Amino acid sequence: MAFEKLRLGINIDHVATVRNARGGDTPDPARAAILAQEAGADGITAHLREDRRHIGDADIDALMDALTIPLNFEMAATGEMQKIALRHKPHAVCIVPEKREERTTEGGLEVAREENHLAHFIAPLREAGCRVSIFIAADQRQIEAAHRIGAQVIELHTGAYCDAHAEGDFATRDAELEKMREMSALAHSLGLEVHAGHGLTYDTVQPVAAFPEVIELNIGHFIIGEAIFRGLTPAIHEMRRLMDAVRG
Ligand code: PXP
Repeated sequence: MAFEKLRLGINIDHVATVRNARGGDTPDPARAAILAQEAGADGITAHLREDRRHIGDADIDALMDALTIPLNFEMAATGEMQKIALRHKPHAVCIVPEKREERTTEGGLEVAREENHLAHFIAPLREAGCRVSIFIAADQRQIEAAHRIGAQVIELHTGAYCDAHAEGDFATRDAELEKMREMSALAHSLGLEVHAGHGLTYDTVQPVAAFPEVIELNIGHFIIGEAIFRGLTPAIHEMRRLMDAVRG
């Protein structure tokens, strides 16, 4: 299969985490998003959590006003978030599971058990022109369910792969990678666009970037952390270089 260009979406949630640690206005996530756009990012991802622990409503307003690249609006499948998404009509809406007690989005969405609810939930978003993406584990049941409910995109959760790599558990890491490889191919064969993300770093990005079916990676925490040391633009450029190096 021929390689399509691999898009890089930058998640700017953790600029807001740093801002909110002091309760003031800085650092400004919209300023980071504009800088990422200028550095060649293909999109910006922001997760408006129910508890507003990082990104807030005003950040979404500012991102919608400022960006010329697409906004991927991450949200839980709640009525409140659906209303906000329908007001803004971002390029893409990525439906993620959300638990208050979690530090980050720990697993993929349970689509198979919630098929009816999710099908009704995403229909108005699709009608409003948003591309609907579902954040899921590399699991055949979930992918087939995402297809049945009418999602256009799945984003594969790369967290288990990245965690196994960080823990030095290379057997698990390789098994996770193999699952993602097979499930990317399955999703593509169903006509779904395939994205991936969560926990990716300079060390873990290339094997995922090498899957020809994957056409977008969404990366946040590592790049925002790396920006402390080398600046946001060079941190993004290095990720882009690593992705391009395996994309042929
Ligand atoms: N994609 C999705 C759907 C996410 O929920 C997240 C984390 O908010 C990311 C990508 C980015 O993950 P990370 O910040 O670990 O790179």
